[in-house]
Amino acid sequence: MLSKKLADEISGQITKEAYSAYLYMSMASYFEVETLPGFAHWMRVQAQEESCHAMIFFNYMADQGQRVTFGAIDAPPFEFSSPLDVFKKTLAHEKIVTKSIYHLAEIAVGEKDFATQKFLDWLISEQVEEEKNASTLIGKLDRIKNSSEGLFMIDAELAARMFVLPAPLTTVP
Ligand code: FEO
Repeated sequence: MLSKKLADEISGQITKEAYSAYLYMSMASYFEVETLPGFAHWMRVQAQEESCHAMIFFNYMADQGQRVTFGAIDAPPFEFSSPLDVFKKTLAHEKIVTKSIYHLAEIAVGEKDFATQKFLDWLISEQVEEEKNASTLIGKLDRIKNSSEGLFMIDAELAARMFVLPAPLTTVP
């Protein structure tokens, strides 16, 4: 049984994950207009993943017999100055999400809620991947500077990203 505090915090996390999907859709839209379809595709997949993260938390609340309190989703940023700017903002956002999930874990540890601690394991590992993806792209974009050729090579690479259903959603709740 989840404490009210954890249930409220997890509801808040669902809103944050929904915001993440919104943020990455805004970035995908920017890349579409910049005629960088590979980058736009990568961000679409990222947005899909974020919706999955929201659903993972939603399913956990359902498993624990808890109603979700849905919060309002803020408007994401609209202005981006370059692909590098986008991925710097992506990394900064993912660091905030990581902190938020650590906060959930701290509460679960404090309450000796072992089920929630175990549930959060996958999400904590996922954040390592999320931050690494953004950092790697920042490194690549930094290296090519303003080379159009380099940008189009990265665009082609990002076009190959496939959406994979996250492991916690592969079993029907
Ligand atoms: Fe759902 Fe990108 O963290």
